Amino acid sequence: ATLARFVDPLPVPPIARPAGQRTHPAYPGRRLPYYRMEMRAFSTRVHRDLPPTPMWGYDGRSPGPTFETVRGEPLLIEWINALPTTHFLPIDHNIHGAEHTKPAVRTVTHVHGGRVPAGSDGWPEDWFVPGRSALLHYPGVQDAASLWYHDHAMGITRLNIYAGLFGAFNVRDAHEQALGLPSGDCDLPLILCDRLIGQDGRLYYPVSDDPSAPWVPECRGNGVLCNGKLYPYFDVEPRRYRLRLINVANTRFFDLSLSQGQVFQQIGSDQGLLAAPLRRLRIELYPAERGDVVVDFAGMAGHTVHLNQQSEAILEFRVRDRGRRDPSVLPATLRSVPRIDPATAARHRVLTVGERDDASGNPMMMLLDGRMWSDPVTESPKRNTIETWSFVNVTGDAHPIHLHLVRFQIIDRRPFDLFAWNAGRVVKYTGPAQLPPPHEAGWKDTVRADPGMVTRIAMRFEGEPGRYVWHCHYLEHEDNEMMRPYQLLPA
Ligand code: C2O
Ligand code: CU
Repeated sequence: ATLARFVDPLPVPPIARPAGQRTHPAYPGRRLPYYRMEMRAFSTRVHRDLPPTPMWGYDGRSPGPTFETVRGEPLLIEWINALPTTHFLPIDHNIHGAEHTKPAVRTVTHVHGGRVPAGSDGWPEDWFVPGRSALLHYPGVQDAASLWYHDHAMGITRLNIYAGLFGAFNVRDAHEQALGLPSGDCDLPLILCDRLIGQDGRLYYPVSDDPSAPWVPECRGNGVLCNGKLYPYFDVEPRRYRLRLINVANTRFFDLSLSQGQVFQQIGSDQGLLAAPLRRLRIELYPAERGDVVVDFAGMAGHTVHLNQQSEAILEFRVRDRGRRDPSVLPATLRSVPRIDPATAARHRVLTVGERDDASGNPMMMLLDGRMWSDPVTESPKRNTIETWSFVNVTGDAHPIHLHLVRFQIIDRRPFDLFAWNAGRVVKYTGPAQLPPPHEAGWKDTVRADPGMVTRIAMRFEGEPGRYVWHCHYLEHEDNEMMRPYQLLPA
């Protein structure tokens, strides 16, 4: 039976509210907002006609509450693990960090895209078990952007996020506030993921044929959740809305469009505003990527507009006039994005994106630069220096590569000769470099490394010295060795 379309309203996650104020040694003489965020098991109907779905979520909901933060205003969050002690999804104990000796349920929260000191960044091995918590601090030292938060526990991140442990984390700043973009209830996250949902309402996570090694290299669902609902509708007014599209799926990429000839005006990408709005018919988002868009429903009263993932409508906007006027604007320019000159880089690193296959050619593990998580650190940039990193993708698939702490720019993508690379680890280009299209020319924190291409990025390593990670954001890959530590050295 197919599910009835558009019978449930789109949930809008509530805004997280501080539990009080506290001092913290990193911010002498200041009282900071203090949040308590409990991870709990809960059940919810993802669709009117399905039985409740057991999940895990921050504050007992998924997506969790949205954090509203402002540049220059630090905050404290105590992340509390109040989950059960057994996992409801299939752990692969062969995977690094998820051995039988480890507790089944472990969590550690990372704010994706946050410029956060190492000790508060959610180091994957800094997990804690039910009954424990971690007090982390967020300095608020970055431009306005649509970030998100999610679990990052070693070896089971894919399962914890799949269970529901994610939410939106907005950073605002004075520059953005002054632009007059849609705000208040017309500015909301649209958090998208696919899930394999049974007729019993349960979440199923795909497994391999071998019950002793259930890991699979990719995970695809049978339905798309928009803010936690299947095929919801959303009542809108004939005016502009700001939608912060966030792909929190394990492996699925989204190829989004609107019906009725509606377009997206893209105003931002992962790390904040683009130089100017871009009129776009389609928005493609790989896991962890964000697309900040304005959609204008003016003149559409009485109509419905669909948000499509490829050819399938996943969300229905119902436009109804409630007599409010629209004070928002879409400015012609948004924020200057000065280009980083790769010639100013202190270091150029060339790193492969690869995999190790078993005898029958199935991937056993995914690797960055041929190294495993436990191998010694090889990337140690110096604070405040610029580096370029070239991702040489030697696999047959695209991989969304994410660096913690920094924002970067895509320099270019360029086809290379795989045989020459395999023979002598030399990059021999076979075609011209392709500059990033305008929607990828802003600040990013996750980049699609295409197969057969060298993808180059440039960044300045601003932030506090310490240990961070970089990894593929296909969660199945990240959990199975496609994650590496890096060390930010003092200047
Ligand atoms: Cu979305 Cu390592 O993170
Ligand atoms: Cu990957």
